[in-house]
Formats: sequence, C-alpha cells, structure tokens
Amino acid sequence: MTATARAHPNIALVKYWGKSDTGFNLPATGSLSMTLDVFPTTTTVTLAPERDADVFTLDGVVRTGIPATRVTRLLDVVRAAAGSTAAAVVTSHNTVPSAAGLASSASGFAALAAAAAAAYGLDLDERGLSRLARRGSGSAARSVPGGFALWHAGDDEHSVAERIAAPELAMVIGIVDRAEKPVSSREAMNRTALTSPYYPAWVTSTAETLEAACEACRDGDVTRLGRIAETNALRMHAAIQACDPPIRYLTPASVELFDRIARLRADGVEAYGTADAGPNVVAVCRPHDAAAVAAVLADVTEVVVAGVGPGVRLLDDTERIDTERIDTERLDGAEPA
Ligand code: DP6
Repeated sequence: MTATARAHPNIALVKYWGKSDTGFNLPATGSLSMTLDVFPTTTTVTLAPERDADVFTLDGVVRTGIPATRVTRLLDVVRAAAGSTAAAVVTSHNTVPSAAGLASSASGFAALAAAAAAAYGLDLDERGLSRLARRGSGSAARSVPGGFALWHAGDDEHSVAERIAAPELAMVIGIVDRAEKPVSSREAMNRTALTSPYYPAWVTSTAETLEAACEACRDGDVTRLGRIAETNALRMHAAIQACDPPIRYLTPASVELFDRIARLRADGVEAYGTADAGPNVVAVCRPHDAAAVAAVLADVTEVVVAGVGPGVRLLDDTERIDTERIDTERLDGAEPA
C-alpha cells in the first residue's frame, strides 16, 4: 500500500530531443547517458482509496496544474495495469534544482515509477520499470538502470533503457542558474520538431552519432566519447535556436564555460562540454582530472563534481524514516539544496 523509491538524475552524452510518438512518449532516436551520484529524488507513493483524486507534494508544497497532471497520468498507467482505481498520495523530495536543466524530471519519474509500481503491487523487472518511467518523462527511462544507459528507440515494448559498459567518467556540473527555465523541455522539443529546419538533420545525425558513441564506450575511448558528447549537445542547441519563435537556453555564462573547457583541452586536460535544455554546462572528463576542471569552472559559477550513480531502488523502512527526518529538517530550517 505504500512504497518509497530513490533515483538519480542522468546527463545524456547523446541527447534525446524529439519524439516519434507523444502518447507513448517514444523517442525519435536512441540516446546514451551517465547517471549521476548526486541530486537524488526520493518519492513515496501511498494508496488512498478514500480520496477522490491523487495528491502530489513536491518539496513540501502541494502541486497542481501540469506537474500534478503528469503524475496522475503515470499513476493512471500503473492503475490500468494493476486493475486498481485507488487514488494515491505522492510525496516527493528533490535535491536538484527543479526545472533548471538538471534532469529533475528524470530522477523524479524514475523514482515515481518504481514507488508506484510497488505500492500498487505490480511486479516489474528493470525493463518494465524503464518502460513505465519513460511514459512519465523520456529521460527517466535511463535513470532506471543507472550507470551508463542506452535508451533504445522503437515501439512501446522495445523502447527501454539498459546499462552498457563504458569508460569511467566524471561530470563537473556548472550551475549557471537555478531558476525555472522559461520554456519547458517538453514544449521546446515539440517546437523544434515542428518549426526548426534543422530538426530532420538532427535526427539523422544523432542516429549515426549514437552508433559511434556505443563503439567508443566498447573501446573505452574517452577522447572519442567526449568529442561526440560536445558535438551532439551543440547540434541539439543549434536545432533549438532555429525554432520559430526561437528559444535560446545558453547564456553568456554558459558560453564562457564552453570556452574554458576548450582552453583546458588546449592546455592538455581532456574535458568536453555538454548542456541540456537550460543554461547549466556539464564538463565530461576522466575522474582524476575532475578537480582541475572544477577549479577552472569555479571562477565563473558554482560547481558540483559527480561520479557514476546507481539505478533506481526501493528504500526499506529504516532508510525511509531517515529520509523523512532529513527532509523535515530541511523544510523546517534550511533552504532547499
Ligand atoms: C535535453 O525527458 O524532460 O535533457 O520526455 O518530454 O519529459 P519529456 O522530455 P525530457 O527531455 C530531456 C531532454 C534533454 C536531453 C536528454 O536528457 O537526453
């Protein structure tokens, strides 16, 4: 009747940007990501058959409108599969700034999928959970297996993410802006597909890029993987900027970070930039270079160094109580992280 799950965000090395089906949330191309070991989301789902409707609380605030609708839509998928009509109370805590391009929807929907499946008594394996999480938010499919995750394009049954072997990497996250972004990634993605003349080229080139990235992973080739990641991210932003009306997520500070990453490379420290649908820039590098990269980016903005993170998992009662205590203290006293 109640279950709690924790999931971590992921950053794509080959991006998902465009859908082949909006109903089932199927991607136009496959994508590849690294799940982070920072900024987890913890979500509890409790069945509430006495209620008329679901209640969604995020970071201590009851949410309505689009965020609540998206939660209810995912619960509807779970209810249909479980043969239940019971409403649920969903309580979620993010440790990542929401909607700032730091993939809170990925950790959020991965945690929700796992907690909801358990609370409604659905016995799903990792593929089933990835498929379910995808319905909430595409990138969430990749936070289910964790580690380096390859999310396949395909139909509803086959479009799931699986773990693949890859060389050890670190990600240095430059938090340029914690504010909510003006255009959601979902809207921007749709607008790109509908109005950007570069969208068809983006789709064709990304499918090729993904194959090359998988090969680089197999070969343990950090240099090739890094170059692929930076090129792919800038191609995505080029396609976004060509929308009508235009959308530009990267700010002068973001560009400064990309420049610094290029200078680091010129000085012999291998780092490569990437950015999701927001102004934050992530430097991809070898773990032993992360401190040097962080030092160079820290002049411009706040940085967080992340390693490879785990897949989604259910928490037992002790861990759940611990999380609730930490969350309560955070809400009572301190500013959310
Ligand atoms: C730029 O997964 O948030 O982070 O499926 O519409 O919820 P929806 O989109 P979402 O988009 C993520 C886009 C991205 C790239 C990526 O993570 O691959």
